[in-house]
Amino acid sequence: MDLRNGFDIKRYIRTIPDYPKPGVMFRDITTLLSNLHGFRAAVDELAWPFLKGEIDYVAGIEARGFILGGAVAHNLGRGFIPIRKKGKLPSRVIGQDYALEYGVDTIEMHADAISKGDRVLLVDDLIATGGTAGAAIDLIRKSGGEVVSAAFVIDLPELGGAAKLKAKGVKVHTLVSFE
Ligand code: PRP
Ligand code: ADE
Repeated sequence: MDLRNGFDIKRYIRTIPDYPKPGVMFRDITTLLSNLHGFRAAVDELAWPFLKGEIDYVAGIEARGFILGGAVAHNLGRGFIPIRKKGKLPSRVIGQDYALEYGVDTIEMHADAISKGDRVLLVDDLIATGGTAGAAIDLIRKSGGEVVSAAFVIDLPELGGAAKLKAKGVKVHTLVSFE
């Protein structure tokens, strides 16, 4: 039932069949974000395990991880680091290719965004195969950062992404799951 603080986050996530290609059940969080209680519940639930202050930065993955990660960073009183699709960041970058449920892409992060020993919370809206988050973890680690945890609103456990991150030694925090 995925009840959090009395708020049913799952109920506000809309499913669009066959988007962006046949066979994909697209889990659309825009209907959660546009509900003031939904947005707040999701951000609070993503952030609460990290309120004690063991995080130096929140890193969010383009595009939906910017919306949630920015709000989580504000909630935790920490700075935000954008992990973007290729070619979008203005200064020197490090990059990582990855495969996702419906294609191939590259993500990049500013080479100087993270210093050795920085403790980072990675945030995105959803984990499916774990390709995107896995690449983000590789980027943070290449910079010498420690990924304290990765937090997502939605887990698609059948696609194995959360298990893949755990196998990489990363703690995974998710709020709802869809089979
Ligand atoms: C979605 C989602 C995650 C990723 C998860 O982003 O927001 O970032 O897919 O899939 P994975 O676990 O299989 O890697 P998408 O690539 O659709 O990009 P967008 O947010 O820019 O639309
Ligand atoms: N990213 C990868 N798979 C997805 C899905 N099923 N719904 C929304 N975003 C996704």
